[in-house]
Amino acid sequence: MTEIRLFKNINVVLGVSGGIAAYKVVDLTSRLVKAGAIVDVIMTEAATKFVGPITFQALTHRPVVTEMFSLLQETEIGHVSLGKQADIMIVAPATANTLAKLAHGLSDNMLTTTALACRGPILLAPAMETGMWKNPATQANIALLQERGMHIIGPEEGRLASGADGLGRMAESDEIFEACRWLLGRNGTLAGCQVVVTAGGTREPFDPVRFIGNRSSGKMGFALATVARDRGGDVTLIHAPTALSPAYGVQSIPVETALRMHDAVMDKISTSDVLLMAAAVADYRPALLAEQKIKKNEGSRFVELVRNPDILQEVANRRETDNRPRLVVGFAAETEDLLENARKKLARKRLDLMVANDVSATDSGFAVDTNKVTLLDTKGEATPLPLLSKNEVAERIIDVVVAILKKKDKMGK
Ligand code: C5P
Repeated sequence: MTEIRLFKNINVVLGVSGGIAAYKVVDLTSRLVKAGAIVDVIMTEAATKFVGPITFQALTHRPVVTEMFSLLQETEIGHVSLGKQADIMIVAPATANTLAKLAHGLSDNMLTTTALACRGPILLAPAMETGMWKNPATQANIALLQERGMHIIGPEEGRLASGADGLGRMAESDEIFEACRWLLGRNGTLAGCQVVVTAGGTREPFDPVRFIGNRSSGKMGFALATVARDRGGDVTLIHAPTALSPAYGVQSIPVETALRMHDAVMDKISTSDVLLMAAAVADYRPALLAEQKIKKNEGSRFVELVRNPDILQEVANRRETDNRPRLVVGFAAETEDLLENARKKLARKRLDLMVANDVSATDSGFAVDTNKVTLLDTKGEATPLPLLSKNEVAERIIDVVVAILKKKDKMGK
């Protein structure tokens, strides 16, 4: 994994309490460090029985805190300094004992002391035996912590340390990482903004097992949804079938055909601020859908096609009403005359921004992780971007989206 902009210069305090799930937090630590965060690990005494502090130290390149008053520094009282500088604190695993202490404001070790002093958001990942989790005392503590604004992720159903299956397994490190990302972005530049993103290639079936499709993987649209989420947007991702999972905190609406995508977009856009139409929507669909699988001996049966609605065009035609998002971004996947075709679409679809994409190159466009696009503004002026990861392309597009929104704000639009 490469660096993620959101984590640049971010101080994460990772509190590890004493459960077997502590071993999974090693992976979480590595992810946070690779993403670019500055990670300080605090372990309770019990946690050190499961994983050695040296493991975390090797990953974070920073001293691991295991004892009260071990952090005394010249200018600051050590036991609250980590909490004060934390942009976010994660407690994983959060044992029943640590949850109880946090709920009652105890500060008898560095982890709980830091949590009390922490000014940033706190994310708790409980892990314990099912009985302990379901105990009314734990449930009351969780309710209290939630009421005070702490965020809880998991626990999940699954195999527990005892060998039994049940509720109490700590959320996977992937998920904790994503929840942390969501939480960090909450106050970003898109906070309060309703963002709709479409992604993937629609499938147009002509019998129960076959469809006409395209090569879109959905990667660009999913990356856009993730970055808009990172900036604090309330994101809805309307996507055709893909192998990808929507990011934590993103509302996902799976669809298959262009018609269903059309309905989902129309349903959402009257309450949305931004529409990013990254999906490769089929322009045509088979006129008939055979009820049964078409047989081999029916030969090369001709599939007659009819036009699908052009979703963006329909949105564009709404301009004069209030039911159009404040900002609409279109994507043009072309194999020839890229800018000329993209400019025509920009004007026809009355877009605020067009992302033109030459999909004939092997390192750009469909199914690969990199993309080389040119951004066209309302005047048709071109800003070519170099070959970048789709995540970085998404960051750049969202940068422009934020800038256009700001400009519109100033102009009272
Ligand atoms: O004109 P063209 O279909 O190439 O324009 C591409 C843009 O229009 C993309 O943003 C795509 O998501 C959108 N589109 C659409 N409905 C269609 C076809 C494309 O909204 N039926």
